Amino acid sequence: MYSEKVMDHFQHPRNVGEIENASGVGTVGNAKCGDIMRIFLDIDDETHIIRDCKFKTFGCGAAVATSSMATEMVKGKTIEEAMKLTNKAVMEALDGLPPVKVHCSLLAEEAVHAALWDYAQKHHIEIEGLKKPKSDIHEGEEDEAEEY
Ligand code: FES
Repeated sequence: MYSEKVMDHFQHPRNVGEIENASGVGTVGNAKCGDIMRIFLDIDDETHIIRDCKFKTFGCGAAVATSSMATEMVKGKTIEEAMKLTNKAVMEALDGLPPVKVHCSLLAEEAVHAALWDYAQKHHIEIEGLKKPKSDIHEGEEDEAEEY
């Protein structure tokens, strides 16, 4: 059912954890399954390069694998490059996901965008193409995730 890469990233997820004093934090939830994903970004304010990216995911195996791959893919990229990260690209990098698990990969894309939104808000900048995340959940508001 799952590719070897999905299994690898599920069993040995990269970049798990938190970044203290992160430049941007984004938390998103999936209304249907109740899974939650949080992405932490450490961004260089001068170059806008993402120096580090970590995640915490309370979710299914596909959500863990896509978070792991997404963090690998945005590390070392500029904000503009990270904006181009789509769930499709993450799925391709994982050699695909079963159709019923495609929605799980959306969490990774949305969480990266939510973390970038948080960074933009804190620094009063605009990031081209970035929209306010619909499902951003703030610290301590996890209970509201069920409402999405
Ligand atoms: Fe919820 Fe995969 S089933 S994110």
